[in-house]
Amino acid sequence: MKDDVKKVLLSEEELHAKVAELGAQITKDYEGKNLLLVTVLKGAVVFLADLMRTIDQPAEIDFMVVSSYGSGVKSSGVVKIVKDLDINLEGKDILIVEDILDSGMTLDYIKGMLLDRNPASIRICALLDKPARRKVDLQADYVGFTIPDEFVIGYGLDYDEKYRNLPYIGVLKPEVYSV
Ligand code: XMP
Ligand code: MG
Repeated sequence: MKDDVKKVLLSEEELHAKVAELGAQITKDYEGKNLLLVTVLKGAVVFLADLMRTIDQPAEIDFMVVSSYGSGVKSSGVVKIVKDLDINLEGKDILIVEDILDSGMTLDYIKGMLLDRNPASIRICALLDKPARRKVDLQADYVGFTIPDEFVIGYGLDYDEKYRNLPYIGVLKPEVYSV
């Protein structure tokens, strides 16, 4: 697995330090609130697992599975819910925990959908942000790292469902994509 990695973009140490920083900020901001961490599977599970343990406030978690409609989806951002949240959102302070904010279209759609369910508030926490690729006016309220427009893997992020279990975030060698 390691042999496929061209370079390490963010080491385990850098990731853990940043996650702790985000957790401390979220702990402050959500004092006395009804925090619900919402994660869209699968990329953000590693980030969620680390982040939730740095939040020193009562917090619920819930998961969603979505799939894209047809093949042109990447451009429309319209998604189909494969598995919906179990928890009723009314009165909850939702924090969507995302691995990476890219075009922003998927998250923009999901955020709109969750807003219709009358939560008390809704914010986004993205570990990574690629602002160069944004297609909609959407910003994360908490961002770990702003990164250049390179395809990244590891710490939950995949290429063809692989490399999610790498403990750091890296960039693959070009030959991995071409075989
Ligand atoms: P949007 O709608 O913001 O979609 O374009 C973001 C989703 O796209 C995936 N994505 C990546 N996955 N490495 C990955 O493994 C990347 O560099 C990358 N860029 C975007 C990811 O699933 C994210 O939730
Ligand atoms: Mg993916």
